[in-house]
Amino acid sequence: MQIRLTTDETVPVAQGESVQDALKHAGIDLVSSCGGKGTCGKCKVRIVQGDYRESGNARLTVQERGSGLVLACRTFPVGDLVVEIPKVSRLVVGDKIAVSRMRELAAYMRSYGVTSSPLTSRLDIELPPPTLTDSISDLERLKRELSKHGFGGVRFSHRFAETMPAVLRGSAWNVSLTYIEGDGIRDEALFLSPQDDAAQRYGIAVDVGTTTLVLYLVRLLDGEVIDIASTYNSQMQYGDDVISRIVYATEQAGAERGLAELQDAVVSDINALAATLCGRHAVDAAVIDAVVLAGNTTMSHIFWRLDPSSIREEPYIPALNYFPLWKAGTQRIAVNPQAPVYTLPCVASYVGGDIVAGVLAAKMHRRSEITLLMDIGTNGELVVGNNEWLVTAACSAGP
Ligand code: FES
Repeated sequence: MQIRLTTDETVPVAQGESVQDALKHAGIDLVSSCGGKGTCGKCKVRIVQGDYRESGNARLTVQERGSGLVLACRTFPVGDLVVEIPKVSRLVVGDKIAVSRMRELAAYMRSYGVTSSPLTSRLDIELPPPTLTDSISDLERLKRELSKHGFGGVRFSHRFAETMPAVLRGSAWNVSLTYIEGDGIRDEALFLSPQDDAAQRYGIAVDVGTTTLVLYLVRLLDGEVIDIASTYNSQMQYGDDVISRIVYATEQAGAERGLAELQDAVVSDINALAATLCGRHAVDAAVIDAVVLAGNTTMSHIFWRLDPSSIREEPYIPALNYFPLWKAGTQRIAVNPQAPVYTLPCVASYVGGDIVAGVLAAKMHRRSEITLLMDIGTNGELVVGNNEWLVTAACSAGP
């Protein structure tokens, strides 16, 4: 079976698949505020020709039905169809919705009295090449040199060891070690690279909103914001609000597949924005070695592919509020795969890391006067308080 669109594209249809799912699998997204439950009435398409079965179309008026409109999420082809997608039903999420520069952010940070202290540090090391009389292994050789620099108990991952021998030999044993600073005994080695005094280091900061995604490219050594790009969160095709996303992730599409689809969507968006900014500034994505991510609790869970179902069920308990420093490579973020990802901590199921970031940026936790912070997005959150106390509440505010 197949669907032929009036624009001449052809889409295969699997047995039992809805028109909406068939289109989605072919990369054609429809507006889907309810996530395919048949309740929002936004996924209207017109059947020009062919047989189909429907399961619910209460959201359509008599006139709409008379003109051949159906709800794509409730319509199942029983043979080949010719379908027209009205412009209002097509979801175009790849478009950038804003691109700007904000150089004053570094100055703002300085006004805070903070200096740039990236998640990752770098150390240049010169290793004596191995000889017949100095024949310890590559890793022991590296550890020996590190101990001379005061490093006692550095942790090395399998991924680090995989790339180490080639980098050591390819750079004549003069390397830069990128690592996460612990407390002197819990440092973690991330990767080796050839020494390069002119090498720049970059990080990305990502604001994962339910509707909008914003990505900042930051030069790590001085905190300069190089550029900003944003786009719609393409998870919108699975529903406009966090509840629809949780339902899709955990029930509608089958727990494993639904969560994976939503996570793939946000990762593709982040990677597309990162590629745009890297391309514009000739930055090699491999030199991005730190990522900071802020999102509401559901967005943070979906990004890390953590089951968000209990967020929506009494007593509303998230899997995590504090996220360990996991690596970008585990979620296929197209930067250095060993880059640590710092996820802003969440407070509760409906007060997430985005609000924590807002409180920090507004400095309300440092002021003695009482401040009210309002974040009116798809979800609305309020925080009120000062440097002694803060209280917060959240509700849905509409897409
Ligand atoms: Fe089809 Fe909402 S009615 S997606």
